[in-house]
Parts: sequence; C-alpha cells; structure tokens
Amino acid sequence: MKNKRILITGALGQLGLALIRALSKQENTYVLATDINIPKDKLSVDFEHVNALNKNRLESLITKYEINCIYHFAAILSANGENNPFMSWDVNVNSFQVVVSLAIKHKIQRLFWPSSIAVYGRDKNPINAPQQVDMNPLTIYGVSKLASEKLIMYYHYKYNIDIRSLRLPGVLSSDLVGGGTTDYAIEMVQAAKNRIPYTCFLAPQTELPMVYIDDVIMAMQQLMEADFSTHQRTHSYNIMGFRLTPRKLENQLKKMGFPVVVNYNIDYRQQIAESWPQTIDDQLAKKDWGWTPKFDLKRSVKRMLS
Ligand code: SER
Repeated sequence: MKNKRILITGALGQLGLALIRALSKQENTYVLATDINIPKDKLSVDFEHVNALNKNRLESLITKYEINCIYHFAAILSANGENNPFMSWDVNVNSFQVVVSLAIKHKIQRLFWPSSIAVYGRDKNPINAPQQVDMNPLTIYGVSKLASEKLIMYYHYKYNIDIRSLRLPGVLSSDLVGGGTTDYAIEMVQAAKNRIPYTCFLAPQTELPMVYIDDVIMAMQQLMEADFSTHQRTHSYNIMGFRLTPRKLENQLKKMGFPVVVNYNIDYRQQIAESWPQTIDDQLAKKDWGWTPKFDLKRSVKRMLS
C-alpha cells in the first residue's frame, strides 16, 4: 500500500504503542491513534479519545482523517476477561463487528486484527499445536477470538474484505499494560531490573509459547504488505519465537547477572495457561509470507533489560 492513512484502536496497549513507534519512522504514512484511555505522555502521532464500540464516532474519524487502513487492537485480555465474561465478549466481538462494518462501508483497503493462542483448548495437541484443528477454548477471551477468526473468513467470502490476522502467543516487551496470563514474563523481567522480589502467579514449569514484540511488529508489517493475489489467505496465522516457563526465565535472568528472587503463588491464571498449547506450529506463516523470528529468549530479555 502507498500513502497509508492508518487508524489504530486500543493504541495505548502493548501492540499499539510498539506499532506507533515503528510507523512513526515510515514515510508516506499518517497515523491516528485512538484509545478509551488518555495517553500519559505525548504520543508521536495524532490521538483521539474514543471507545471502539462507538460506531458513529469511529465513522466520523475515518471520514475526517481519510483512513484507508485499520489496526484493531482494542480488547480485554484473558485474565481480566474471566472477571467479566459478558463485558469481555461485548468489547472483543462487538468492537470487531463495528470496525469490520465500517471497513466494508468505507472501502478500507486493509484491516489487521490480532487473534491469540487462547483459541486452543486443553484437549488438543499441547505440543506443536496445528494451525487448523478442533478448538474448544476455555476462556471468554479464547471464545471471542475464535468467533472473530470465523467472522474473518465469513466476511472475506461475503464482502471480499481484506482482513489480515496473526494468532499471537505471549508477547514480551517493555510496555506492561496488564490483564493477560502471559504477563508474568514481563513482570518478572521488570522486577529483576528494579531489583525487587517477584511473586509469580503461574507454576515454575508452566510452558507457553512466546515471541518478542519487535518480531510481532515485523510480522504485522510483512503480513500487511504480502501479496495474496494467488492463494487463499483467510487464516489467522500462528507465529511463535520460543518456548518459555517461569523457571527458565528466572534462570536466564540469573545467568545475565540479575539475581531475581521469585516466589510462586499460583492463582486462577494457572488454569488458563494449562488450557493453552506449550508450542504452536507456525509453518504456514513461514511458507506463505516468510515469517522468520529474529529474537530468542536471551536476546529478548537483553532488550527488555536495556
Ligand atoms: N497474551 C495474551 C493473554 O495472556 C494471550 O494472547 O491474555
């Protein structure tokens, strides 16, 4: 796409903040950040305060700023979702519906939306979980992500709308916004950095797939630029960087000279983590548009500590 005019919803979250930093450096790209919260520090791009469920207001912004591309990040994550499943469905699915309907009406050229490993359920292939398999998610977050994945396919066939999607594992970055099950990893690194003890809410051996934020941003941009004229592309593509347990992260931090003290006090998030796969198969992303992660655990942690 040339002359991109991008609107981001949920722009003050983990993905939004990193995407703004990356897009700010690009030429011929206008970015309008939107969020239900107000930024603490001034952003490098324009900002509008908006609830992603407010269709009229979003529509007026799309028109006013001549938007031709949307990244829809507004969502309630897995752990917070369990505290209010009805609200979580409303925010996650109905905001998706609002954004897609506006994208169709205003002929938005491309829409990005992140799915999650939460779409998988406990009963299926915890190791190298296949791209396509029966899915029975046990969180409202997973249910809402899976429903929206199905809607991507449906809207593509019905309206030929170009929605692109990654199925994300836990994302490591320096921005902690909160509410997720994989957040322990960010919290532990921050505790190590601040030389304070950390109480981890997952058991030491709980293994989950992870990826570093720079690889996610690279993947989003590769996927959004990919030429899909010759093959089907209605999947939400699995991607992962490396596998991680709290114990492995603790050991990595110690190896890097941060003698972090980790206590374990597991809570309801353990059950969520146990319902997700330990690793996922991301061969299709490699084959279709060249997904190649650059960050392993050591490099990710080094970057987060710096
Ligand atoms: N990071 C998300 C969460 O823990 C999973 O996609 O909710």
